[in-house]
Amino acid sequence: MSAEDQLVDYREQTPEVKRYFEDLRSREVVLKVEELGKVFGEGPGATEALQDVSFNVHHREFVSIVGPSGCGKSTLIRILAGLETSTSGSAMLDGEEIRGPGSGRGMVFQSYTLFPWRTVAGNVTFGPEMMGKSTDDVEKEAEKWLTMVGLADFKNHYPHQLSGGMKQRVGIARALANRPRILLMDEPFGALDAQTRALMQAYLLQIWRHVDVTILFITHDLDEAIYLSDRILVLEANPGRVEEFVEIPLERPRKPDQFLDPRFLSVRHRLDVLIHGEFPEEADELSFIGGVDRFAEVDAD
Ligand SMILES: Nc1ncnc2c1ncn2[C@@H]1O[C@H](COP(=O)(O)OP(=O)(O)OP(=O)(O)O)[C@@H](O)[C@H]1O
Ligand SMILES: [Mg+2]
Repeated sequence: MSAEDQLVDYREQTPEVKRYFEDLRSREVVLKVEELGKVFGEGPGATEALQDVSFNVHHREFVSIVGPSGCGKSTLIRILAGLETSTSGSAMLDGEEIRGPGSGRGMVFQSYTLFPWRTVAGNVTFGPEMMGKSTDDVEKEAEKWLTMVGLADFKNHYPHQLSGGMKQRVGIARALANRPRILLMDEPFGALDAQTRALMQAYLLQIWRHVDVTILFITHDLDEAIYLSDRILVLEANPGRVEEFVEIPLERPRKPDQFLDPRFLSVRHRLDVLIHGEFPEEADELSFIGGVDRFAEVDAD
């Protein structure tokens, strides 16, 4: 019997999960992407980074984007942030076409983009200060967001005095202080060690539960994507197109031991197949190929 035969169907949902998605689909659409395309350059050297990408994200939904390197994930999120323009199609936030950067979108990147000359609190207050809010209001707000990410005691520190995980938490607090409708995150935990990364995932879920914000999250880590998301948008490369939008069949709140849930394994297998293709039959003989090892492990049971 092949490993695939032993897996439950990743599309099967318990009544609770079904209800969750019915509720989710009934919520307003915050982000609407329609037939979005992006070509870099012209002529024979042109790169079609995105082609006909269409999808919706609902209010307070957590959507991850995965796909092979170069499939256009960062290009897509940069267009949504207004840092890059599309060459065709459209992207709308709350019904308004995205034409440039705006406070409705908060960005968190893999590299820490904090201002080194500002304190932790100073980094968080920067956006609201720019919007002309009073110092008192801004400081109270900063305190609130820093408490939310567990860094209230570090408000007078400078970025160089913080660990990578702490810097990323400041980055999240800073993005949230602008009260965005959607948080756009491009591999935010990609540079962190595994243990810090797991902590950050738990933090992010906690924040998301308590804050009225929708999240679009890019990652290379499929386990991370499943653990965090309601749905996962899988892109294929050359050109970057939507391959599938996968609903995660796991109840919330998510628990770390869900990594062993048969439904987790089945959705993980589906993502592997979508991104890496079907594995060859004789997995043992080919175990030197990256990814096949994992297949062999499942098969051994
Ligand atoms: N400014 C640019 N000029 C020309 N080509 C670009 C530019 N930015 C991205 N590309 C090309 O567009 C394609 C998509 O790149 P993008 O960075 O969006 O991929 P990605 O999915 O984020 O990859 P990774 O997983 O490695 O981060 C690639 O072929 C890349 O070379
Ligand atoms: Mg990228």
